[in-house]
Amino acid sequence: MAEVVSRQEDTMLGHPKGLFVLFFTELWERFSYYGMRAILVLYLTQATTDAVNPGLGWTSKEALALYGWYGLFVYFTGIFGGAIADNWLGQKKSVLVGGIFIVAGQFALAVESMTAFYAGLFLLVCGVGLLKPNISTMVGSLYKKGDARRDSGFTIFYIGINIGAVLAPLIVGYFGEVVDWHLGFSLAGFGMILGQLVYVFGRKHLVGVGDLLKHSAEHAHLMKQPLTKIERDRMAVMFISFLIVMVFWAAYEQAGGLMNLYARDKIDRVVFGFEIPTSFFQSLHALYVVILGAPMAYFWVRWRKKGKESSSLFKMGVGSIIMSLGFVALMGAAYDVSVSALDKAPVYWLFLSYLLHVVAELSLSPVALSFITKLAPMKYASLMMGTYFAVTGLGNKAAGLLGEAAQDAGEMAIFTGIALTSLLLGVLILLFVKKLKALTHGAEEVDVD
Ligand code: PHE
Repeated sequence: MAEVVSRQEDTMLGHPKGLFVLFFTELWERFSYYGMRAILVLYLTQATTDAVNPGLGWTSKEALALYGWYGLFVYFTGIFGGAIADNWLGQKKSVLVGGIFIVAGQFALAVESMTAFYAGLFLLVCGVGLLKPNISTMVGSLYKKGDARRDSGFTIFYIGINIGAVLAPLIVGYFGEVVDWHLGFSLAGFGMILGQLVYVFGRKHLVGVGDLLKHSAEHAHLMKQPLTKIERDRMAVMFISFLIVMVFWAAYEQAGGLMNLYARDKIDRVVFGFEIPTSFFQSLHALYVVILGAPMAYFWVRWRKKGKESSSLFKMGVGSIIMSLGFVALMGAAYDVSVSALDKAPVYWLFLSYLLHVVAELSLSPVALSFITKLAPMKYASLMMGTYFAVTGLGNKAAGLLGEAAQDAGEMAIFTGIALTSLLLGVLILLFVKKLKALTHGAEEVDVD
């Protein structure tokens, strides 16, 4: 009880203050990430001879290929970022060093030289790999085992991510595209500097969070112990959740590629006489997350308090099924275009589909982050989170490949395939949820609240 009281003294909105330090740090990191991402392909493909804002003059194909590889590597390096944190730096320092890499990377992109451009991308890949998984693990470390606030803490953190993601394309996108690409990249760099400042000045709220496990002789002995049966079971169930997550991102990340082109060419974007620009839809996911994050978290808390099934795996299964419905909505659009022979499909399909994507995302993505912090054995805490991000990177790459496949197979076939796969996976998870839950050995039990 004394413990509870002392924790409450240092809270904000009922959560540890450290959560808000991590919230703002990650908000600015994502601002820098999504800002740079919003202009990367545009910069690459802009003609070198453009009088106002010359780019690199690459073909679309070359630009999209680099974009795809960047998306893979930037998350794949999470494995190394996690391993470095577990064995060498601890999460707290890894986040700091990662942030420094990111600042350096963004400013390198701001320099007009191809060497600086590639060096910048390399620094960003290393920086995000060090920062992103480790800051996520730190969110989990703010809560003790059994603390019922953990899931909602991750949702709050996730809202911060998406505030950065909504703002970035507007600010970095505008100044980069309209004024000067290099100014855009610098703004992304300044965003990350703000993140670093929040992190450094907020350190006092992160005491005891994200430190390297002590390397005493006794501890070294502990680290060498093989995993127990319980730990192995938990690892197994985590890997199953990785599969769900990979399929999920392969579907979701259609938004930036295939869906972007689809929205441009096959959706009637005129509403009340005004044509919504295609790029607007790139902020729509994040905007929906910011709006729906809190109500969804509230919904799940109420659901749990009613005593209903509310394990992470259950939510992930539900998320997968809702994702499938999001693609059914897109099938509606494809139907309108092909069968009803409309020239373009009505825009409501896109709004509805993205809405469902986000309801699915909120049932699955913050939940998966929280789940990992509950299940990973202490000595692999960061590595498992890093692996989760690597899997996300693979999902991103798969999304690109599916988008390419749609060029031959047609959108209807790809949308239907994604809808069926997500549905099947979701239903399987729900059918086996009891068995899978048994493998977690009570890791998700929460104290009565
Ligand atoms: N919008 C999420 C973010 O940037 C997407 C994501 C989820 C990326 C999980 C990586 C891993 O954090």
